[in-house]
Amino acid sequence: MLTGKTAIITGGAGDLGSAMARQLAEKGAHVVIWDIVPRAEAAAAIEGVRAQDPQVEYAEVDVRDRAAVDSAIAALPQLDIVCSNAGIVEAQPFLEISGENWQNHLDINLTGCFNVCQAAARKMVTDNTRGRLILTSSWVAAIPWPEITAYTVSKAGVNMLVKQMARELSQHGILVNAVAPGIVKAGLAGRQLREEPQYAARVAKAIPLGEPGSPEEIAAAVVYLAGPQTAYMTGSILTLDGGCSLFQFDS
Ligand SMILES: NC(=O)c1ccc[n+]([C@@H]2O[C@H](COP(=O)([O-])OP(=O)(O)OC[C@H]3O[C@@H](n4cnc5c(N)ncnc54)[C@H](O)[C@@H]3O)[C@@H](O)[C@H]2O)c1
Repeated sequence: MLTGKTAIITGGAGDLGSAMARQLAEKGAHVVIWDIVPRAEAAAAIEGVRAQDPQVEYAEVDVRDRAAVDSAIAALPQLDIVCSNAGIVEAQPFLEISGENWQNHLDINLTGCFNVCQAAARKMVTDNTRGRLILTSSWVAAIPWPEITAYTVSKAGVNMLVKQMARELSQHGILVNAVAPGIVKAGLAGRQLREEPQYAARVAKAIPLGEPGSPEEIAAAVVYLAGPQTAYMTGSILTLDGGCSLFQFDS
């Protein structure tokens, strides 16, 4: 389905990103994994793709570094799909949020998406590629979940970035959508579940379907947004959250 396409996955050494890389490769895409960690720390993600894509590439690219993003994109002969997925979360109660915490979330989660998507879209326009930009948002982009103000605000920005880019890039045939995962039992939330008892207690009451989601479920939605079934879809936020964002009544 994606044979002949080249896909970048930022944050591709992480749990959601590596699942996206695997599933895109399974559908035939050539995968370029970007992450901030040294190659050795990305070995599992790279090897997880190699059976499907022996030419899998890895580059150490910090999405905050515009010059690095531009030159890594310029080095690619072809670019069809971008999964702008790198992200962080570091919980701090609102009254204790440091300037550094606030700025890190905006720089990585929001400006990182701007840097990667603008650079990619410029290349797609130049190459006349009717590409796909797929951002990783979150169900909390519109929900004030406790103690992660900088994160929720950064993801609210991601949602508007999606809509703005979708509108302006439609004339070039570039489609822009997002996946909005709920609470996944891996990656950022996986770490919070293990390390923050108050988070685990809140999660136990927050998911109508009862269980956290999996990286594979999110990656399958990314494949859908990269594929031919969604050729008429742009500016959408595809939520996979087990019902988390439905208003919770005590019952
Ligand atoms: N895990 C969840 O429950 C959940 C829920 C909703 C949304 N998300 C989103 O999914 C995305 C992936 O997160 P994850 O859960 O797989 O976490 P993860 O920590 O496993 O993966 C995130 C990856 O991003 C990389 N990264 C961090 N800063 C970077 C930078 N400046 N440049 C390049 N790479 C950088 C990290 O090294 C890591 O490999 C994030 O955008 C996150 O907000 C996750």
